[in-house]
Amino acid sequence: MKHSQDLLDDVQEVLLTEEQIAAKVAELGQRISADYAGRELTLVSVLKGSLPFMADLMRRITLPLRIDLMEVSSYGGTSTESSGLVRILKDLSAPIEGRDVLLVEDIIDTGLTLNYLLRYLRGKNPHSITVCALLDKPARRLVEIPIGYVGFEIPDAFVIGYGLDYGEVYRNLRFVGVLRPEAYES
Ligand code: PRP
Repeated sequence: MKHSQDLLDDVQEVLLTEEQIAAKVAELGQRISADYAGRELTLVSVLKGSLPFMADLMRRITLPLRIDLMEVSSYGGTSTESSGLVRILKDLSAPIEGRDVLLVEDIIDTGLTLNYLLRYLRGKNPHSITVCALLDKPARRLVEIPIGYVGFEIPDAFVIGYGLDYGEVYRNLRFVGVLRPEAYES
């Protein structure tokens, strides 16, 4: 995999602009603040892709909240396909028993990662657990996932930016774009 020195040269198309993302994140924050009024939330972000989304979303929620971070990786599979077997690289740092948990994800693709994580986290007896995903790619779903909040439904394209990577690169783009095939075919 060879990325250009100027990352923009590897972008075929901008799918979601910085402004569209910011407006959607603000809207999600408002909805979540209204839906959980009077309660205290725990936001659990799944590294690394959801880092920018988590950072922006938490500042659009007006309720008292805590944050926690998990990191997982899937066993086997390829760089673009997850296998469904998930290994926890970093676990929660505080118990979630009795808490209202919002699981913050950048993208739901096959659903296998979240399927595993939801089962794992439900085992820790939270009061509630709801998924908030910025991007949903329903065309690739292999397992149905209950999604409480979704930012955008996107087509089955190779997307990068706003946290999403290819080969760990491109996460720092401020928009979500489609990667030029040349960048992953070479
Ligand atoms: C991405 C994303 C989800 C998962 C979704 O993470 O953040 O966790 O893939 O795919 P799925 O629905 O097919 O399971 P990735 O494994 O690329 O790690 P990263 O967040 O560190 O980039």
